[in-house]
Amino acid sequence: MKKTRVLPVSALQPEPDRIQIASDILRAGGLVAFPTETVYGLGANALSESAVEGIFTAKGRPSTDPLIVHLPDVAELERVAIVNDPRIYALAERFWPGALTLILPKQPIVPAIVTANQPTVAVRVPSHPIALALLRHSGVPISAPSANRFSRPSPTSALHVLNDLDGRIECVLDGGSTPIGVESTILDLTRPQPTVLRAGGVPMESLRDLLPEVTFQHLRLKEGEIAPASGTLLKHYSPRVPVWLLEGSNSVQKLCELAQAHHQDGVRVGILADDATLELLADVPSVRVSLGQTDQHMAHRLFEGLRHLETVSDIIFVPPFSKEGLGLAVWDRLFRASEGRVIQTEN
Ligand code: TXA
Ligand code: MG
Repeated sequence: MKKTRVLPVSALQPEPDRIQIASDILRAGGLVAFPTETVYGLGANALSESAVEGIFTAKGRPSTDPLIVHLPDVAELERVAIVNDPRIYALAERFWPGALTLILPKQPIVPAIVTANQPTVAVRVPSHPIALALLRHSGVPISAPSANRFSRPSPTSALHVLNDLDGRIECVLDGGSTPIGVESTILDLTRPQPTVLRAGGVPMESLRDLLPEVTFQHLRLKEGEIAPASGTLLKHYSPRVPVWLLEGSNSVQKLCELAQAHHQDGVRVGILADDATLELLADVPSVRVSLGQTDQHMAHRLFEGLRHLETVSDIIFVPPFSKEGLGLAVWDRLFRASEGRVIQTEN
């Protein structure tokens, strides 16, 4: 058991003395959780095999699941990846710093443990001031998966990190809630056709502006199958109580019936929905959590909503919502949180 230090840090102007403490821990091979614009990451020096090993132990993550390497600047890219494709700089110019992760051929300097022995490496330049300050100050590339226990909902606050990892890591930089709320979009540029392996903070619509031929591979792998991205496992992001999604034009009616029946059996029903749908469900006996009005609101509130509902309900229902923009990433997380349990309803 480690003593996990919690350091409050300003998200606008990170205090240099706090960043110094965290950098020292990283440089000494320790683990620091820190906010990015997407979710909290669990960072270690990406060039140190033993430091990176600590990430897998703390998270309980299988070693077959590779990590993203975070850089302070696109100028650092050639240190860790082979940059042989003009599309890389066009994408970096448009989307970095930001929520886009690129899969590229790796340089030998990146330890095999980071990439799960694959010849490719995932890289991104985050835009959150605390993440950037840590990268610049420590002077090392930082490997960072989401700072949750493996297969749990991702953390969007320092409290979520502590709920999963208190006593297992050296330090958390508490910079408040993360603005986007879902992880980065993962784009594989090593395939003949550029392929999104995980929908995320950069919507498909924005990527298509620059890469009209980009495709989205919606994988639903079972445990034990080799996953190109852990976000492609069918069971992932899961709260402690079952999640059920509803689709189709009769969803609201069906949800009312299901909630009534569960309520009569003494089961506490949780509902996660956008504001317009929640209004239609106002009389349903349930704990209701609002995902807001826009796709950005939904992404920002998703994981907090799941983590709250698992403490106050026994089953979570999610009625349909728009899959445009960040809605696709939200739907993808919920599909996996539900392990693919979708109730189809039609009139
Ligand atoms: O927004 C994010 O991406 C957050 C923040 C902290 O940057 N990080 C994050 O990391 O979500 P993680 O480890 O939870 O998810 C990264 C995904 C994993 O599913 C992993 O399998 C995939 O990236 N990945 C990493 N390296 C890869 C590679 N070489 N090829 C294919 N997928 C890779
Ligand atoms: Mg993750």
